[in-house]
Amino acid sequence: MTSLPKTFRVKSFGCQMNVYDGERMGELLDAEGLRAAADHEEADLVVLNTCHIREKAADKAYSDIGRLKREDGSRPMIALAGCVAQAEGAEAKARSPMIDLVVGPQAYHRLPRMIAEAAAGARPVDTDMPAISKFGALPARRRVGPSAFLTVQEGCDKFCTYCVVPYTRGAEVSRPFADIESEARGLVESGAREITLLGQNVNAWTGACGGLDGLIRALANIDGLERIRYTTSHPADMTDALIAAHGEVDKLMPYLHLPVQSGSDRILKAMNRSHSVESYLRTIAKARAARPDIAISGDFIVGFPGETEEDFTSTLSIVDTVGYASAYSFKFSARPGTPAANMEGAVPAHIMDERLQQLQERLASHSLAFNRRCIGRDTSILIDRKGRQPGQMIGKSPWLQSVFVDTEARIGDMLDVTLTGAFPNSLSGALITAAAA
Ligand code: SAH
Ligand code: SF4
Ligand code: F3S
Repeated sequence: MTSLPKTFRVKSFGCQMNVYDGERMGELLDAEGLRAAADHEEADLVVLNTCHIREKAADKAYSDIGRLKREDGSRPMIALAGCVAQAEGAEAKARSPMIDLVVGPQAYHRLPRMIAEAAAGARPVDTDMPAISKFGALPARRRVGPSAFLTVQEGCDKFCTYCVVPYTRGAEVSRPFADIESEARGLVESGAREITLLGQNVNAWTGACGGLDGLIRALANIDGLERIRYTTSHPADMTDALIAAHGEVDKLMPYLHLPVQSGSDRILKAMNRSHSVESYLRTIAKARAARPDIAISGDFIVGFPGETEEDFTSTLSIVDTVGYASAYSFKFSARPGTPAANMEGAVPAHIMDERLQQLQERLASHSLAFNRRCIGRDTSILIDRKGRQPGQMIGKSPWLQSVFVDTEARIGDMLDVTLTGAFPNSLSGALITAAAA
């Protein structure tokens, strides 16, 4: 039996939804009277909020557990949370004796009770999936910074053949509009000026105000909320109404993360993506017609089983056609329990490496080109962190670029700037002063 923890640390490893869960677990522990510790060394409880999406991400959780042992042989109470916890459940306890409790992404509102059980010597596991219920059981949001995440949808029903999310997060469920609106108001009251609506398949959200476009229009009425974003969208659920909102709702930022995964229809079919290259490009064209300056971002997987040189060339070609402003790209990772893990035609590691490198070079050249095209624009940035140089601050442009600028402004300020220089991952800006404007 150990004593009840007084201090905690939450470490999140995954996607934005995972980060959001980490914030909410922190708020929950805070409401229970635990204090946030400055680092892992000082924490009585460490929550590892894990990701299962690729093998590397999942392995990271276990290597981190080992590192929590202190020089004097002691260690904090360790809670395994997130998608690895969901996927492995009780197996995780067997794999690492240092794990004191295992809690899945839909069950973490029960964390306080589980901590008490762990302190009493049990090793509880809770990977129930009562979908929406956790939200009602969580304390209100506290101060979150100028840009906040808000999960509006949980789970995924798409079952892309490579992906663990439908298993680790469960079925697709939209949170009710009233809950989302009240959480959004709470975020704005506690200082948020920008909200990113989150869901693994966020553009499939439905509720009292219709689809995601209706939700965005409704939230745009909140005074003090200045910017709205959403991620991640599935190409097959990109409705004309949502695209139209990009041309009509000023607060909706000109940025669309629309993962394509591959530029080959044969591979898209094997991935069970339910969109084709042609339908994807049609959607992009519509989005650009609605909002000509929209920044398009995407996700790619190279080395899916059976991917030929020709398939890969098609991926490079869609990259050139779309001209992505930013993108994430990954080597295929066979995940236990997914159909693709048993498919024939594994692509050798060295070929995956080569393809990833080639793809990333191509994507980087398009990012730089996009950033260069922005030079000379007057725009606003939302300051979110300090820059590396003294007197320098960094903010986000509407197109989600990091812009650094010399200013005395503080985090949370919105500044008018002219974009003056472009780099692969950032831009420089100059303040527009009242005199110059
Ligand atoms: N719901 C989103 C994001 C899912 S996970 C979507 O549908 O796009 C984020 C990205 O991880 C995916 O877009 C995909 O590019 C990548 N990914 C998912 N499973 C993977 C796997 N088994 N191997 C490699 N990359 C993977
Ligand atoms: Fe995974 Fe596909 Fe669902 Fe995205 S849409 S979370 S890639 S199954
Ligand atoms: Fe990872 Fe789970 Fe998100 S597997 S990508 S943390 S939904």
